[in-house]
Amino acid sequence: MRKIVIAGNWKMHKTQGEALTFLQGFLGQLSETPQDREVVLCVPFTALSALSKNLHGSRVMLGAQNIHWEDSGAYTGEVSGSMLEEFGIRYVVVGHSERRQLFGETDQTVNKRLMAAQRHALTPILCVGETKEQRDRGEAEDIISKQLMQALVNIDQSNLVIAYEPIWAIGTGDTCETTEANRIIGVIRQQLDNQSVSIQYGGSVKPGNIDEIMAQSDIDGVLVGGASLEPDSFSRIANFVQ
Ligand code: 13P
Repeated sequence: MRKIVIAGNWKMHKTQGEALTFLQGFLGQLSETPQDREVVLCVPFTALSALSKNLHGSRVMLGAQNIHWEDSGAYTGEVSGSMLEEFGIRYVVVGHSERRQLFGETDQTVNKRLMAAQRHALTPILCVGETKEQRDRGEAEDIISKQLMQALVNIDQSNLVIAYEPIWAIGTGDTCETTEANRIIGVIRQQLDNQSVSIQYGGSVKPGNIDEIMAQSDIDGVLVGGASLEPDSFSRIANFVQ
C-alpha cells in the first residue's frame, strides 16, 4: 500500500516564533483532512524543539532537513540522528538538490545519510532530479537512475520515501507537466525492489495545481517549498480534492 505523504520543506525559513504562529493558523485547517494522508513539516533544526512540543497529539509529523552519517564527532555545523531522535521526528529530507548543488553533497554522502536515518528509525525522503541542461540533452532518466542506484546501496526500501524534484521546477513557478512527472515517477518505481515506496513530486507545487498533480496514477504525494510557508496554502495542498 503506497502511503500519501504531503510534506512541507521550509528550507531556511521561519524562526521559532514564526513557526508557532504558522501552527496556530495551520492545525485548525486540518480537521477535514482524510486520515490516510500523512502531513509532514520538515523545518529548520532550530524550530524542531518548539514544534515538537506543540505538535504533540496532532496529526502532523515533524521532519528535519538533513542528518549526518555519524552519531557524534568533529563535524562542525552538522546534526546527528541521535540529536534528532530527541525531538520525536519521523522524517528527514536527504539529498535535496540545494544540498547537492550548494553544499557539495554527492550520491555517496547521500547514501551514508540515508543509512544513518534508517539506523535511527527515521524515514528518509530521498530527493532526486535533473537540471534543465540535463533534461534538454535528454539525460533526465539516466541521471535519476544513477542517483537512485548509488543512493540506495544497502538501503531498506521498506522505510523510504522518494521525491522526484526536477531542479528546473524548484522555486521557479515552472511546474513540470503533471503527466511528465507521473511518467518519470513510474520510471523511478520500475527501478525499485519494493513497489510500495511512496514517491512524491516536488517543484512549484501550489494550491492551484495540487489537485491535478495528485490525480496522477503514480504520484503519491508532494514535497512543497514556498507554498508550505503559509497556513492557507499548505492546508489547501494537504486538503487536495480527489
Ligand atoms: P518549491 O515548492 O518552492 O518550488 O520548492 C520545492 C522544493 O525544493 C521542496 O523540497
